[in-house]
Amino acid sequence: MKLITSLTELSSILSSFKSEGKTIGFVPTMGALHDGHMELIRSAKLQSDVVIASVFVNPTQFNNSNDLTLYPRTPEKDQALLAENGCDIAFFPSVETIYPSDLITPNIDISALEKVMEGAFRPGHFAGVVQVVYRFFELIQPDFAFFGLKDFQQVAVIQHMVKQLNLAVTIVPCPTKREQSGLAMSSRNLLLSPAEKEQALVIYNTLLFCQENARHFSPEALREAAINRFETSQLRLEYLTISTTDTLEELHEKWPATAVVCIACYCGDVRLIDNFILQID
Ligand code: PAJ
Repeated sequence: MKLITSLTELSSILSSFKSEGKTIGFVPTMGALHDGHMELIRSAKLQSDVVIASVFVNPTQFNNSNDLTLYPRTPEKDQALLAENGCDIAFFPSVETIYPSDLITPNIDISALEKVMEGAFRPGHFAGVVQVVYRFFELIQPDFAFFGLKDFQQVAVIQHMVKQLNLAVTIVPCPTKREQSGLAMSSRNLLLSPAEKEQALVIYNTLLFCQENARHFSPEALREAAINRFETSQLRLEYLTISTTDTLEELHEKWPATAVVCIACYCGDVRLIDNFILQID
């Protein structure tokens, strides 16, 4: 695996692969890598000739400076994991490399997708995500880019951006990787004590409850029952929504063929998110 930090190295290595006609699969990350990220690397490996992963804790997508400071950083372990899993290029840029003072970002309209869930509770978050992902797409020009469905709304926002700007990249959504307990793998799990990890299982259990009971309730009634269930736990719920999978509009009376239930909550000081796609018929 080649470890690079500068744009000169990046463009020279990419142009040599591209001149050989090789397809490029890109996996953007913020590091503190775990097996959930490795699922993306493995999918990228299967679908592209060359796999490039970026590790960059993007300051513009944190609406809370404390969250940015607390964000776990494990660069040596990240490099080892990427190499073990067959990544070809690990790109670890600095903030100055990604955001030079003369950088121009096009106006990207995230529209209604930004007004709900993560967008509503983390103002400016998706503006930061599209800014950095657009910048990486511009620098790398990948054929495929791999995103985890753990961040369901992020996938919807990126797909919207690609369509709106007519970018020549195929977005590949990848399933959520879970610990054996059901807890979705997350870099933030490193910040949880063993007792908190146990308490956090209420997230998975509530999602299972929704999956098992979708047919017996309207979306609205299921949401209320799921919230009541969740609120008997030690975690603090920020939102629990049941929405369409494309526009992320909240559902009330009727079910479409597929819907998504999304949860964001705090376990102690740690913010966790998870979701299930519900197949209704
Ligand atoms: P990060 O949280 O590091 O996640 C990087 C990618 O890994 C995202 O696509 C995320 O959905 C995926 N991922 C995380 N946990 C996963 C799991 N348990 N199973 C499957 N995939 C998982 O998401 C970001 O970084 C940033 O917003 C980024 C896109 C890199 C832009 O800065």
